[in-house]
Amino acid sequence: MDSKLVAAAEWLRGRLPHPPLVGVILGSGLGDFADGVDDHVTIPYGSIPGFPASAVVGHSGALVAGTVRGVPTVVLSGRVHFYEGHKMAAVVFPARVLGLLGCRTVIVTNAAGGIDKSFKSGNLMLIDDHINGFGTNPLVGANDEDLGPRFPDMSDAYRKDLRTLALAVARRQHVPLRHGVYVGVHGPSYETPAEIRAFRKCGAHAVGMSTVPEVIALNQMGVGVLGISCITNMAAGVLKQKLDHKEVLETTQRVKGDFVRLLTALVQALGTGRSGATEDAFRPVARPVVRPKARAKARGKKAKRT
Ligand code: HPA
Repeated sequence: MDSKLVAAAEWLRGRLPHPPLVGVILGSGLGDFADGVDDHVTIPYGSIPGFPASAVVGHSGALVAGTVRGVPTVVLSGRVHFYEGHKMAAVVFPARVLGLLGCRTVIVTNAAGGIDKSFKSGNLMLIDDHINGFGTNPLVGANDEDLGPRFPDMSDAYRKDLRTLALAVARRQHVPLRHGVYVGVHGPSYETPAEIRAFRKCGAHAVGMSTVPEVIALNQMGVGVLGISCITNMAAGVLKQKLDHKEVLETTQRVKGDFVRLLTALVQALGTGRSGATEDAFRPVARPVVRPKARAKARGKKAKRT
């Protein structure tokens, strides 16, 4: 096991109020959910050993741990992106730490451009599946068998039972929830209209510059994944207007009420199993084993650092 991962997880374990059951990764402009975490501790990414720091506007870059409707939860408010120049290992580092901390389920969220012409800016989309348009994969390189298999299965990457649960919860909360396929791209330039037409033909409904690497890493670890996109703008060429990151942030502000309500109810359902939609959401995760040797190595590094 990568000693930096072990060190980060061990460091956090000593500081979290509860072992978390659910992890949440918040995308651009979607940080408000973190404000509703009860009895929380907030830890800036910069103080967690090994955590990469994000510089993108709309990403605050802090881990918030506490409870949501009584469910022990860790929220990652902000993420690092491949387009910032980080290595894939850094991009998926925080997600892997959530897995190592024991999260059974991680809800990944993002801002995305709507490719499906029936979508409107401000819609929320449950991610059914993804297309990896990054041109690389976070698992490239020597495989760490302690994290999971060399060739992880991705045929239920956004678990069907969790999606069924999410649709039921959204209905109960009266939050309209579309669903579709997310294509993750490298960025940071937005797509051309021709690329968007091509993605539409390939079966994509929304496009964004994140999420796919984290979801691959979490699947490798056997962690259940739910994905929610906030459609912040229509993708290039769909409307006769240019794309601007300001619109992304304005839309997330407009829909934050629905978004926070949905996420809160989802975490509650995941934590209490009251949805009745699934038994499988609570099946045990194949937890990666942290070998004593790796742990000792990480401790050694930590001792040197302080
Ligand atoms: N394209 C890529 N990423 C995005 C978009 C988009 O249109 N909107 C928000 N993130």
